[in-house]
Amino acid sequence: MADPKLLTISGSLRKGAYNRMLLAEAVRAFGPAEVTEADLNLPLYDGDLEEAEGVPASVQALVEQIKAADAVVISSPEYNKGISGVLKNALDWISRVPGSAFKNKPTVVMSANAGRTGGETGQYMVLHCLVPHQADVLPGPTLCVATAGDEFDAEGRLLNERYLKVLNTRMTALRDRVS
Ligand SMILES: Cc1cc2nc3c(=O)[nH]c(=O)nc-3n(C[C@H](O)[C@H](O)[C@H](O)COP(=O)(O)O)c2cc1C
Repeated sequence: MADPKLLTISGSLRKGAYNRMLLAEAVRAFGPAEVTEADLNLPLYDGDLEEAEGVPASVQALVEQIKAADAVVISSPEYNKGISGVLKNALDWISRVPGSAFKNKPTVVMSANAGRTGGETGQYMVLHCLVPHQADVLPGPTLCVATAGDEFDAEGRLLNERYLKVLNTRMTALRDRVS
């Protein structure tokens, strides 16, 4: 059987993002997969732009990646206790493309943040914002990597066994869902 297609979505655009590191660990924990990394560097949602030019090609490409994926992992920082604007913007664009890309898509959500709660409040907002998309969001245990700057080594590997254990639980559940 072919390896499952796994799409990773980072709610942080920056190259050195802790959420990217967490996604890389999630991919390792998931096991053999055809991995694609989403690019959320999209135009800001603008109804005038949509009317004049239609859905941007970058959004359409993202929608196709979600549709093609067997499973999705989203890792996003919270910004000021809320969902990152980058991720919200992407979700808003995705919702404008007919066919509900996320519908019934097995999806795991996690977060890494510099703060002491690891982005838990923002992560709940991500879960909330996924509701209209009807994704098949797998339940906890919740994974919020707190004080993220201290939690990854120079190779981007998670140092804390407790986080690794939760990550493995989540990714095993996701793999089981698509096997
Ligand atoms: C606009 C902004 C808002 C932030 N708000 C929070 C916050 O609410 N909670 C928190 O723990 N850290 C907050 N931070 C710090 C982030 O946790 C930190 O920048 C983290 O590295 C972002 O994730 P990334 O490494 O994946 O980019 C904020 C950072 C920025 C730039």
